[in-house]
Amino acid sequence: MHEFHYRNNRLYCENIRVEDLAKRFGTPLYLYSYRTLINHFLKLEQAFKSVNPLICYSVKANSNLAILRALVDKGAGLDIVSGGELYRALKAGCSPKKIVYASVGKTEREIEEAIKKGILFFNVESLPELESINRIARRLSRPANVAIRINPDVEPKTHKYITTGKITDKFGIDLKSARQILLMRRAFPNINILGLHIHIGSQITESAPYVAAIKKVALFISSLKKEGINIRYFNIGGGLGIIYDKETPQTAIKFAEKVLPLLKKTGLKIIMEPGRFIVGNSGILVTKVLYIKSILKKKFVIVDSGMNDLIRPALYNAYHSIVPLQANRQTGKPEGSGLPSDRQSHKQVNEKVDIVGPICESGDFFAKDRLLSKVKEGDYLAIMGSGAYGFSMSSNYNSRRRVEEVMVFQNKTFVIRKRESCEDLIRNESIPRFLLGC
Ligand code: LLP
Repeated sequence: MHEFHYRNNRLYCENIRVEDLAKRFGTPLYLYSYRTLINHFLKLEQAFKSVNPLICYSVKANSNLAILRALVDKGAGLDIVSGGELYRALKAGCSPKKIVYASVGKTEREIEEAIKKGILFFNVESLPELESINRIARRLSRPANVAIRINPDVEPKTHKYITTGKITDKFGIDLKSARQILLMRRAFPNINILGLHIHIGSQITESAPYVAAIKKVALFISSLKKEGINIRYFNIGGGLGIIYDKETPQTAIKFAEKVLPLLKKTGLKIIMEPGRFIVGNSGILVTKVLYIKSILKKKFVIVDSGMNDLIRPALYNAYHSIVPLQANRQTGKPEGSGLPSDRQSHKQVNEKVDIVGPICESGDFFAKDRLLSKVKEGDYLAIMGSGAYGFSMSSNYNSRRRVEEVMVFQNKTFVIRKRESCEDLIRNESIPRFLLGC
């Protein structure tokens, strides 16, 4: 459940009318509900209370400092994948002891920095990376903590671009090689192998793939124990799916019911790395209709936001619910009826349209052949479920300025990132003197 709802046919974010914010801050605009964000974190924490896990929010989903700070304040750790994310995590006030660091391509510089800051551990994705960490740790005379990322070879049943736990994916280390590494651990005297890690994919709606992966790793853990190899942490990654369309994802509680018995048996400290589950439905992208363009067999609703702001539809053909800020009065929808859905507006006066942005690419669309209640130029639309992998994957393509981000808490608003200026666009560029005729 999230805190975007209609009251008197107007979309609200917590206690604030979204249209007022669109007018005040301009569009496109990313809008986040603080309460939704925190509620999702707490839901997971509550569901797994019996093992008291360290929940390391996955920074890549939405790396705004305010989002990170809000979660860190509630006790979250952070899952990072780059030196830039380490910088953000520390700026947001996260204790290094609550930071875990994945990525198949960590550079020497990034490894060095993370060791110096004293992060909890690296999730190591290959033998050469382990060797590199060992070398750098020796040079710094500081032992480095790691977990081995296992590739459990399971099918998570999600989009192929976000599948990460099959043996043909670039991520993690197969069980056999992981065993060899653990057996030869004394060859890495500057490394403490503290745990095992899995992350099998993203937007996973069922628990079966997790159960399969966790079972494999749990067996592995007990076979290691027999060989006298004891580890302390089991990081089960992120990937929990959310509702964008017709999905019926497992709830936190259902997920916990399935995996907790397996996790408890391992006796290890549990770490989780959810991103989307926490932030996905706590954000929307607000955009304004610029033009309605009708051609022979099509109608385009051209909006002022584009694939540079939210690339998920273009990249994964992802579905995002799109609703008007002002609902059609004929819906007779009760006040505060919860989740606005374009399926509901389907019953209204509606038409089939493509909702597209201004970018010079035909892939620049938010929806194709979508039934949308009739809108006109100047109307506002909300692209729902844009909190995760929305702003964090945005770009300046077509020299468009990255948009403003605003957080709402009850009836208060906070700008958490200013809209970029044209000056920002060219900030790090320079014209060589020879081109200036000097
Ligand atoms: N841990 C690791 C090691 C990851 O690679 C990821 C996401 C997560 C945790 C968090 O996954 P989540 O709980 O958010 O599913 N851009 C794509 C999603 C890419 C996910 C990449 N890794 C999208 O927009 O659907």
